[in-house]
Amino acid sequence: TGAITLDPGYKNSGSCKSDITFLDGEEGILRYRGYAIEDLAEQAAFLEVAYLVIFGELPTKLQLEQFETDIRKYTLVNEEMKNIIDGFPKTAHPMGVLSSLTSALTAFNPKVVNVENEKEMYEAVCKTMGKFLVIATWTYRKMMGYPLNYYDNTQGYVENFMQLMFKLPTGPYSANKVVVDALDKLFILHADHEQNCSTSTVRIVGSSHAGLFASISAGVSALWGPLHGGANQAVLEMLEDIQKDGGDAAKYMAKAKDKDDPFRLMGFGHRVYKNFDPRARIIKKAADEVLRTLGVDDPILNIAKQLEEAALVDDYFVSRKLYPNVDFYSGIIYRALGIPTDMFTVMFAIGRLPGWIAQWKEMRINKEPIGRPRQVYTGEPLRNFVPMDKR
Ligand code: CMC
Repeated sequence: TGAITLDPGYKNSGSCKSDITFLDGEEGILRYRGYAIEDLAEQAAFLEVAYLVIFGELPTKLQLEQFETDIRKYTLVNEEMKNIIDGFPKTAHPMGVLSSLTSALTAFNPKVVNVENEKEMYEAVCKTMGKFLVIATWTYRKMMGYPLNYYDNTQGYVENFMQLMFKLPTGPYSANKVVVDALDKLFILHADHEQNCSTSTVRIVGSSHAGLFASISAGVSALWGPLHGGANQAVLEMLEDIQKDGGDAAKYMAKAKDKDDPFRLMGFGHRVYKNFDPRARIIKKAADEVLRTLGVDDPILNIAKQLEEAALVDDYFVSRKLYPNVDFYSGIIYRALGIPTDMFTVMFAIGRLPGWIAQWKEMRINKEPIGRPRQVYTGEPLRNFVPMDKR
């Protein structure tokens, strides 16, 4: 098969052809199915974008309504799933619980395990969109020790996220429109991002013909890490640490630059974006607006601003093209919206779900071969076996 090209981290390797997302890291361009992320964030709603990402075209009004109705049909989660949730300690991280619950869904939805035709594919898409949202919010209810809520068919998808999370056992719940609109935008910004770590994971797991839920469960685990989706939680914790430590941003800048110190400035840098992250620009503007509308005055914002300003003129950061990424701002806005820190990466997962589904679907439709990278062996050459009594 010829010489093997070594490319750790796949920095220069394409793993597939894809029609879904276009990304130009030098120019800071992101498009889903040819539509600019700026236009989508400004003018579309999350389910509309989910439809676009998964099926390739913007939905008509009728198609969107049908999609919403079909998702709603599948928002009931098997009651036995609750036994599984009950088995976790309250202290379990929601991302670990989410990955487990997504995997557990395979037991109750065998058709999503083996998708054989277009109709089953559509059902699998709607089931995943419906059930994942519900179990994602259940990870929070579990952590808080609250009773679990059910999907409210009179409400939209993002409103449902809010009521599933925050509705109390008694009385009605109505989500703040400013918060719902901000979340809608955040979910859109996260909807897909071509072959990132979690998406590549979803594709590689699916490439062995493992089912959609199993593949997405693996994607959730990949997203959890602080170098990927877990960065949004890590950013907030870092800002809190700096605040507790007297608010000296310069000290942490120095730590980030010190090659003997493993500390990295969370929320800075990106594998592909080398001038700016277009999502970060949109989110920063949205964060400013939401904080103003909600009247939030958070001292942590000051620290974030200091870090950002310092990094933008610092040689270390400039020469390495390290700019604030989407996760630098998303945590700040989630916090202002009342989302607990441990749930930040779950928010990312809810937003990324359409992308994972679309990429899995594309891979299966294109009949891609099993993902199986090679290696360069660096171990011992052939050795003579040494019996136990001679070692
Ligand atoms: N703070 C300090 N130094 C950094 C940082 C940072 N946040 N990011 C990169 N560097 C340095 C790194 O040490 C290396 O320096 P040198 O050339 O002297 O060895 C250089 O910049 C290149 O970094 P790299 O690790 O080779 O770049 P990568 O493409 O492998 O990693 C990254 C990209 C996003 C994992 C990395 O920038 C990072 O760890 N950032 C912090 C975590 C973060 O915010 N992640 C969210 C990414 S955006 C959303 C998502 O994908 O989930």
